Amino acid sequence: MSGIYIHIPFCKKACIYCDFHFSTLKNHTEIINSILAEIDLNQKEFKKNNISTIYFGGGTPSIIDSRLINKVMQSILKNHSIKEECEITIEANPDDITDKNIKSWKKIGFNRISLGVQTFNDICLKKLNRIHCREDAISAVKKIKKEFKNYSIDIMFGTPGSTIETLREDLTHIKKLNPPHISIYSLDIENTTPLYKMIENNKIKMPTSSLVSEQFDIISMEMERMGYINYEISSFCREGLQSRHNSNYWCNEKYIGYGPGAHSYDKKYRYWNVRDNEKYIYKINNLLPVFDKEELTEVQKVNEYILTKIRTMEGVNISDLEKIMGINLIKIKKREIQLLKDKLMIEDSENCIVLTKEGKKIIDHIVEKITI
Ligand SMILES: C[S@@+](CC[C@H](N)C(=O)[O-])C[C@H]1O[C@@H](n2cnc3c(N)ncnc32)[C@H](O)[C@@H]1O
Ligand code: SF4
Repeated sequence: MSGIYIHIPFCKKACIYCDFHFSTLKNHTEIINSILAEIDLNQKEFKKNNISTIYFGGGTPSIIDSRLINKVMQSILKNHSIKEECEITIEANPDDITDKNIKSWKKIGFNRISLGVQTFNDICLKKLNRIHCREDAISAVKKIKKEFKNYSIDIMFGTPGSTIETLREDLTHIKKLNPPHISIYSLDIENTTPLYKMIENNKIKMPTSSLVSEQFDIISMEMERMGYINYEISSFCREGLQSRHNSNYWCNEKYIGYGPGAHSYDKKYRYWNVRDNEKYIYKINNLLPVFDKEELTEVQKVNEYILTKIRTMEGVNISDLEKIMGINLIKIKKREIQLLKDKLMIEDSENCIVLTKEGKKIIDHIVEKITI
């Protein structure tokens, strides 16, 4: 099974924490035409069959005229063979959720919406420079609910101004709205972002690491209490409604990415498209490759497997790793694994390395210890 990812590199406004590729310019047509050309050109020579998930992400796909989105979808359908029951997601911001847009997206073929709420607290939203407010988010979820059985909301914690109270407020809204899927991310501070500079220059106050850790504990406890399945470190869902697109990534499946900044993977090579709208258009117009690629070494493949599987509820399966890649991790990392078990950071299992609740907080450290 393979996934398709379309990167739509536009937003109305720049959020201070965001490191994704986007521009706030308003002329969207030229890029969409180049994406259409990239799909037709198939420069990476991917096999285009067996597609089980399609994901329009960004940036903010919901700001694009739905006629342009439809053109991209038609080109995907024309150029690929799509499996029945394919999961087809569009990422949206709350201020773009109108009945008209929802109906158009449904007609185009989307069967899942991923809504970027981040928090329901207006003060925190403002600090992040988000374009929407709490009321927009609540009204958006209510509208989506009427038309889509499958949708997700994104929440972040550890953001400037967030406290135990603001988090509890967010969890209360989640409980009331009862979405079938939620991604809850701890805010990453990337050094390319305005937020990073603001922190360096003491222009913004961040929550302490102990507050963030407490927020993490509350999220785990409350989401479990609400009956959600925590199937991946940041992902919670109702039975059978996990994100198939993201699960494909975590299960090391192939994916084809189109659009500036999009990544692709075919189990042998990793590809990344140029992360610049002008250069992307230029390369497409001049029939130049829009991507760079690297062939993964055996060690990189093993580490990729560990890195992705450790995030999931099933964890790293030792016999699978041996079967697929010929590596006996228990032998190679005997001391490290025992130490992590003793410290209760991973579960005491013979065949799987699964993170405990405490382990999830130090996932980067654990990955460092068990990769080869
Ligand atoms: C690529 S963004 C696009 C979605 C949409 N434009 C939005 O902002 O809602 C997808 C999600 O990544 C998460 N995200 C973005 N930057 C992040 C960061 N620095 N740390 C943690 N999560 C982040 C947010 O929750 C966001 O909803
Ligand atoms: S978080 Fe979303 S809306 Fe904000 S800048 Fe990033 S992609 Fe755009």
